Amino acid sequence: KNHLQIGILGFGTVGSGVLRILKHHEPKLNQVTGVSLRVKKVLVRDIDKKRGAIAEGIELTLDVDEIINDPEIDIVVEVMGSIDEAKNYIKKALKAGKHVVTANKDLIALHGNELVALAKENQCDLYYEASVAGGIPILRTIVDSLASDDIQKVFGIVNGTTNFILSKMTSEGKTYEAALKEAQELGFAESDPTNDVDGIDAARKMVILTRLAFGMNVELDQIETKGIRDLQQEDIQMAEKLGYKIKLIGSAIQIEENISVDVGPVLVPAKHPLASVQNENNAVFVVGAAVGETMYYGPGAGELPTANSIVSDLITVAKNIQLGTSGNVFSSYQHETSLAQDSE
Ligand code: NAP
Ligand code: HSE
Repeated sequence: KNHLQIGILGFGTVGSGVLRILKHHEPKLNQVTGVSLRVKKVLVRDIDKKRGAIAEGIELTLDVDEIINDPEIDIVVEVMGSIDEAKNYIKKALKAGKHVVTANKDLIALHGNELVALAKENQCDLYYEASVAGGIPILRTIVDSLASDDIQKVFGIVNGTTNFILSKMTSEGKTYEAALKEAQELGFAESDPTNDVDGIDAARKMVILTRLAFGMNVELDQIETKGIRDLQQEDIQMAEKLGYKIKLIGSAIQIEENISVDVGPVLVPAKHPLASVQNENNAVFVVGAAVGETMYYGPGAGELPTANSIVSDLITVAKNIQLGTSGNVFSSYQHETSLAQDSE
């Protein structure tokens, strides 16, 4: 094949970014994949919405079956959000033999194992790098680069909206409400920002990180989760005076055979690298028995950073198709014992 065709479900913040990167980086993408990646159709809810120049020449549809039943479409990118509807569409796409790339952490946290099994059953790829920490390639790092290690801790800032709110409240004295409104306008917040501010979005990302880093399935209700809704300007100022910053931290820590996972606001010493993570940026520490402490930093939300993770997944899918090795997913590794310090 000299080209692959893509159907995109959703033309919002992330969907627009995917179109922009595919267009603006086309020569490089053609070269690294060996094929041309073409968007054939995009699913939307409102066909009359103004979508700017990036929508010119793009065929829009209100009917998902026009994408799923199109034999020319090889890959479906799901960037519409929701749980039940997106799950239904992705299942249909996988059953129709389409490879799937998604940014949907809500869905992957809750139903990831079922979708992974369905993808393998249908020899389809399923990737979701954009679902955790936006533009930071943290999932590939864990499943590829750190596959050799015995991971002991994964912790950090995994929600851009709450970090943006806390940063603006700290450095600009903004109110919680004004900072949340700005995060929504910039496209960082979820359609229901409750998921961001109450720590649910971060907890879902910790479910995915725990699954991939430790090979362990943790349920959302097993994660003690606290958000930032009740934090007052005075709490932030008091923390500052005492030499701390308040950050919403997710952590998954191996304690003997168990993994303890939680999400909540934490007083971080001002000198700690996590304290200097500003605005919508995220930072994830991964501690391995062999590698020690590593830190991954970058934009945790937003159009182009998130879309870049989607397009990196598309490159992987395209390469797998070219090599005839489809049926791949991010796979987890089960470490039952710690790396012995005195062994070879
Ligand atoms: P968004 O801006 O709200 O866009 C959603 C898009 O999906 C819209 O174009 C909407 O159509 C379309 N859509 C929604 N429900 C639909 C339905 N039932 N049928 C047809 N089209 C539908 O959302 P987003 O910020 O791009 O986020 C998309 C996904 O990426 C979510 O799962 C989110 O959690 C995830 N994500 C987002 C970010 C970020 O920074 N925004 C980062 C990482 C992951 P209309 O345009 O016609 O309304
Ligand atoms: N609402 C999410 C956040 C988007 O603010 O982190 C990225 O997953």
